[in-house]
Amino acid sequence: MRKPVNADPRWELTQADCEVAMASIESGSVDLVYADPPFATNLVQRGRSAAQAYDDRWSGIPEYLDFMTPRIEDMHRVLAGDGAILLHCDWRTSHHLRLVLDRVFGAERFVNHIVWRYGLGGSSPNRFARKHDDILYYARGDGRWFEPPMVPSTSRKMAGQLKKATDVLDVPSINNMAAERTGWPTQKPLALLRLLVNACVRPGGTLLDPFCGSGTSLVAAVDCGRRAIGIDLDPTAIEIARERLEAATSV
Ligand SMILES: C[S@@+](CC[C@H](N)C(=O)[O-])C[C@H]1O[C@@H](n2cnc3c(N)ncnc32)[C@H](O)[C@@H]1O
Repeated sequence: MRKPVNADPRWELTQADCEVAMASIESGSVDLVYADPPFATNLVQRGRSAAQAYDDRWSGIPEYLDFMTPRIEDMHRVLAGDGAILLHCDWRTSHHLRLVLDRVFGAERFVNHIVWRYGLGGSSPNRFARKHDDILYYARGDGRWFEPPMVPSTSRKMAGQLKKATDVLDVPSINNMAAERTGWPTQKPLALLRLLVNACVRPGGTLLDPFCGSGTSLVAAVDCGRRAIGIDLDPTAIEIARERLEAATSV
């Protein structure tokens, strides 16, 4: 069951396993699921303080997929007929999750394999340095709301002009000094989430983030005039997300 920690009509937050909390979300009531689950790094992901951490250790990919599959089925159930999912992952699991999404949503519902290119970090002497995440975009049905995001053109001919974004999104990751940094591990940048929300959720529509962490997608949604539903297992994450959402909606 969902027992939200707040009563603001623009957003709700629940601390629970998302499989449990999603069971009480009405079928067909959500316009976009943005899901940024643990990536199967086999690490305890640690943030700024001891309380800012979550466990991302698995016995192997089969256990990870046994965890993800019923939750993806529930994300599919709660989506409206013209809704869509953005599933954020990386090289460790994107090929496995693509097959799960093909089965649950239908291979014909595949829209994009978006690459979030973040640039920061070191290089590697042994291979091409890994500098991107993968965001798998699938539609729930035939129709789907989409407003192409406009980004600065990189061609010399169109210098200073905007062009429609491609499936490679260049957005810097959050640097250590950034004001938006909360200390929660693997926090995503607001600029990336604002771009995705504006592109993929109709104004006034509802976004569900079942692994909301510090609440980045929820803050982006309310900033952009959408309704946000967030779920996370961890009480510290929920507290951080609540503070961010209260600040975002107090003005
Ligand atoms: C990659 S992080 C999300 C980061 C988030 N997008 C942000 O910007 O802060 C994954 C989150 O999944 C949460 N999580 C892990 N297992 C969960 C479960 N069964 N139900 C809900 N949340 C879970 C973790 O606590 C963690 O906050």
